[in-house]
Amino acid sequence: MHKGLFITLEGVDGVGKTTQALLLKTRLEQKGQEVLHTFEPGGTALGSRIRQLLLDPNHAELSSMTEILLYAADRAQHVHEQVLPALKAGKTVLCERFVDSSLAYQGYGLGLDLDAIRAVNHWATGGLVPDLTIYLDADPAECLARTKKDRIAQRTLDYYGRVRAGFLAIAQAEPKRFKVIPASGTLEEVASRVLRAVEGEVL
Ligand SMILES: Nc1ncnc2c1ncn2[C@@H]1O[C@H](COP(=O)(O)OP(=O)(O)O)[C@@H](O)[C@H]1O
Ligand SMILES: [Mg+2]
Repeated sequence: MHKGLFITLEGVDGVGKTTQALLLKTRLEQKGQEVLHTFEPGGTALGSRIRQLLLDPNHAELSSMTEILLYAADRAQHVHEQVLPALKAGKTVLCERFVDSSLAYQGYGLGLDLDAIRAVNHWATGGLVPDLTIYLDADPAECLARTKKDRIAQRTLDYYGRVRAGFLAIAQAEPKRFKVIPASGTLEEVASRVLRAVEGEVL
């Protein structure tokens, strides 16, 4: 078992995960916690190469199955090299994206087998589950307008509608762990919602 808190941030590209993770990191450090801020895909040296493969618009031929397995491979390395050592050292880990992204994007978004994605990821992570997940919820069209279009972000708004519905379905199934935070408003407004959710559940 680990000692530190494992908090993940989820939501579509451009919704504000990095922005909010950095603000939350500062707040938690002010409260005396040691914090690791990290992300998937690409939170390790090896993972950054997997990330390049996943997001490269020149690799349109990449199959859905390959996509699931590359995300899981990146995650396995990240858990092994970054997340678990930090948790064992008692740090709070703030991780942008985790298994829920695979369920939302490849499961709900692409219509692939949710149970298979859960099984592959359970194996890849050794069954690690976040203590708390902050899901930043907003209209994908507005979020994507703020980002540059990688291979995944080139998918249609219909696709992103399914991804968002997928995240909301996870929230319904696991309301204790998975908190829906409206991501509209200023950075500070969203940050105070995030802090309330974290304080309410795990601090
Ligand atoms: N609440 C907000 N209002 C306006 N712009 C925002 C807000 N949150 C984030 N942004 C901006 O949107 C862009 C994407 O934010 P980022 O935190 O990188 O998202 P993500 O990590 O989810 O892709 C950045 O330029 C960021 O400054
Ligand atoms: Mg980010």
